Amino acid sequence: MPSSGFFNLVILLCSLGVALGGDPYVFFDWTVSYVTASPLGVKQQVIGINGEFPGPILNVTTNWNVVINVKNHLDEPLLLTWNGIQHRKNSWQDGVSGTNCPIQAGWNWTYEFQVKDQIGSFFYFPSLNFQRASGGYGGITINNRAVIPLPFAVPDADITLFITDWYTKSHKELRKDVESGTSLGIPDGVLINGIGPFRFDEGLIKGGNPFLTVNVEQGKTYRFRVHNVGISTSLNFRIQNHNLLLVETEGSYTVQQNYANMDIHVGQSFSFLVTMDQNASSDYYIVASPRFVNSSSWARATGVAILHYSNSQGPASGPLPDPPNDYDAYFSMNQARSIRWNVSAGAARPNPQGSFKYGEITVTDVYVILNRPAELINGKWRTTLNGISYLPPSTPLKLAQQFNISGVYKLDFPTKLMNRPAKVDTSLINGTFKGFMEIIFQNNDSTVQNYHLDGYAFFVVGMDIGVWTENSRSTYNKWDGVARSTTQVFPGAWTAILVPLDNSGIWNLRAQNLDSWYLGQEVYVSVVNTEVDQSEAPLPDNIIYCGLLSSLQKDQAQRVKFSSAPSISRSSSTILVMLIIACGAFIG
Ligand SMILES: *[C@@H]1O[C@H](CO)[C@@H](O)[C@H](O)[C@H]1NC(C)=O
Ligand SMILES: *[C@@H]1O[C@H](CO)[C@@H](O)[C@H](O)[C@H]1NC(C)=O
Ligand SMILES: *[C@@H]1O[C@H](CO)[C@@H](O)[C@H](O)[C@H]1NC(C)=O
Ligand SMILES: *[C@@H]1O[C@H](CO)[C@@H](O)[C@H](O)[C@H]1NC(C)=O
Ligand SMILES: *[C@@H]1O[C@H](CO)[C@@H](O)[C@H](O)[C@H]1NC(C)=O
Ligand SMILES: *[C@@H]1O[C@H](CO)[C@@H](O)[C@H](O)[C@H]1NC(C)=O
Ligand SMILES: *[C@@H]1O[C@H](CO)[C@@H](O)[C@H](O)[C@H]1NC(C)=O
Ligand SMILES: *[C@@H]1O[C@H](CO)[C@@H](O)[C@H](O)[C@H]1NC(C)=O
Repeated sequence: MPSSGFFNLVILLCSLGVALGGDPYVFFDWTVSYVTASPLGVKQQVIGINGEFPGPILNVTTNWNVVINVKNHLDEPLLLTWNGIQHRKNSWQDGVSGTNCPIQAGWNWTYEFQVKDQIGSFFYFPSLNFQRASGGYGGITINNRAVIPLPFAVPDADITLFITDWYTKSHKELRKDVESGTSLGIPDGVLINGIGPFRFDEGLIKGGNPFLTVNVEQGKTYRFRVHNVGISTSLNFRIQNHNLLLVETEGSYTVQQNYANMDIHVGQSFSFLVTMDQNASSDYYIVASPRFVNSSSWARATGVAILHYSNSQGPASGPLPDPPNDYDAYFSMNQARSIRWNVSAGAARPNPQGSFKYGEITVTDVYVILNRPAELINGKWRTTLNGISYLPPSTPLKLAQQFNISGVYKLDFPTKLMNRPAKVDTSLINGTFKGFMEIIFQNNDSTVQNYHLDGYAFFVVGMDIGVWTENSRSTYNKWDGVARSTTQVFPGAWTAILVPLDNSGIWNLRAQNLDSWYLGQEVYVSVVNTEVDQSEAPLPDNIIYCGLLSSLQKDQAQRVKFSSAPSISRSSSTILVMLIIACGAFIG
C-alpha cells in the first residue's frame, strides 16, 4: 500500500500539474544493470532495466511530462536516449554524448521531459559505447489525447515487439572487433523481445530454449508496434497468413495499406493493425529475417515467435512464410516509397497532418552527405560523413555552448564531400533557425545504412539507386512523403529528406547501425534561436558536469546512496499515474 507520504506527494503533484496547465507528470525509478540471460542457449550478461530485458514500456499520452531517475549500476558510463522524442527546445534531455555528460558507474541522473505534440511508437536505448548490442532498450508509446480520435477503430490491445540481430559476444567484445576492423560477421541469432527463436528448423536450432508466444483471440484486432533495435541488420517482418495493415510509423499516421511483410531497418518503428481472421487450426509463425544477405548462410539468424489463438488446435508447423528475394533492393525501395502520410488525419493536434504543406516551403540549406565504409585514418578504423569522422569532445557540445567555451567544436561541417583527405574532427552543421533544410544521404557503402535525426521528424521525399543530382529533385514527393525520424539509404543509392528547423538546440544526426556510428558516422546540427522571447529550456539544475567543466561537479558517490533511498516502485508509479489522471479529471 502506498504510504500517506505518497498521497501527499500525489496531491502536491496534482496542484503542480494544474499550476503548469494540467499536463500530467509521471515518475519512474529505473535501475540499469547487467542481468544474466540465455536467449540463444548461451549464458551472457545483458543490460536490463529494473531487472527486465527488454526494459519497461513507457506508456504515456501526448503532452505528458516524464520524470525518470536513471541509476547506473553498470560498470561503465551510461546515457539513455529517446529515439524519436523531440524534446522541444530542450536538447538537455536528449541523452547523447554531445548534449550530456555521461552518468558515471554508480551515479544517477533524473531526466525530465515533455512528450509535447507527439503521438506514436518510439523506443529508448543506451547511446554510448555500443551498449545497445547488449540490450537496455524498451518501448515508448505515446497515446493520442481523447479529444483527437485515432484515424482507425480503437484496437483491442497493443502488442510491442523488439526485433534485433544478436550476438553471444558482449557489447564490449563487439566494439573491440569494430575498433580493430573485424567484421561483426553473421549474427548468432535474431531475437524477438529478447528471446531466441521457436525451433523452426531442427537442424539449425537447438531444442529446449524458450521462445516467445504472443497470445491473441480470434476475431480481435491488435496494434503491433514493431521496433528494429538491432545492431546493423535490416529485418523483414511478417506473420504467417495474416495481413499487416500499416497505420503509423515513428509518430506519423500513414495512408492505411495492407502488406504481406515489411522491411524494417535498424532504428525504425512501425505500427500495424493485425486482425485475427484465420481459422484456429494451428498456431502461426511471426518471423523477422535478415535482408540483403545470403539467406541460406544466414538461416540461423532468423527470429521466430508464435502467434497463438486462444482456441488454437495445434502448434505451428511447416516452412516459414516466404521472405522477399534476398537481394531485391527494388522491392524494398518500392515498398518504402509506398509508405505515405495520411494528410487528412489529425495526430497530436486537431488540424490534419497535411495542413503543414512541406512541399511549398523554400529550402534554405542543402547538405549532400556521403558516407563511406570504414577506412584507416591515422592508423585507426573510422567511418566518415563527407570525409569527417566525428570526434566526441570531453566537454559536451551543449555545455560548451552554454558556458561560451570556444574551441570545443566548429560550425563548419561541409555541405558536400570536399576534395581533401578524410579526417577526425568535431565539426557541426550550422542550422538556420526557422530555415528549411534539405539533406541528401548518399550511401557509398555496400550495406544498407540508416540515419536518424534527434529533435525532429523529417519528410522522406525521395530515394533512388545511383548518384543524386539536382535533377533528382524532380522525382521528390512534395505532397505526402511520411514524416519520421530514421530513414534507410540503400547501398549505392540516395535518400532525400526535408527538415523544418523550428526546434532550437544541438541535435544529433547519426548512423543507427552501431558499427557505423561507433566509428564516427555522426554529426550534430546546431539550431540557435536568436529571438529572446522563444529561448530554450534553461540548464537543468541537476546537470552533470565533465570535461573542461568537471570542477563544477560534486562527486555523486558522496551524495547518493542507492540502496537506502526510498523509491517509487513500478507498480506504485502506475497507481501514481492513475491518481494524477483522476485528480486531473476531478480538478478539470
Ligand atoms: C497505456 O496507456 C493507455 C492510456 O493511458 C491505456 O489505455 C493502456 O491500457 C495502457 N497500455 C498498457 C499496455 O499498459
Ligand atoms: C539521484 O537520485 C536521488 C534519489 O535517489 C535524487 O534525490 C537525486 O536528485 C538524483 N540525482 C540526480 C542528479 O538526478
Ligand atoms: C485453416 O486455414 C489454413 C490456412 O489458411 C488452411 O490451410 C486450412 O485448410 C483451414 N482449415 C479449415 C478447417 O478451414
Ligand atoms: C549462399 O550460400 C550458400 C551456402 O553457404 C552457397 O551455396 C550459395 O552459393 C550462396 N548464394 C549466393 C547467391 O551467394
Ligand atoms: C486517413 O485518415 C482519416 C481520418 O482523418 C481516415 O478516416 C482515413 O481512413 C485515412 N485514410 C487512409 C487511406 O488511411
Ligand atoms: C555567454 O555569452 C552570452 C552572449 O555573449 C551571454 O549572454 C551569456 O551570459 C554568457 N554565458 C556565460 C555562462 O558566460
Ligand atoms: C551560423 O549561422 C548563423 C545564421 O543562422 C550565422 O549568423 C552565423 O554567423 C553562423 N556561424 C558560423 C560560425 O558560420
Ligand atoms: C563508391 O564510390 C566510388 C568512387 O567514388 C565508386 O566507384 C563506387 O561505385 C561507389 N560505391 C557505391 C556502393 O556507391
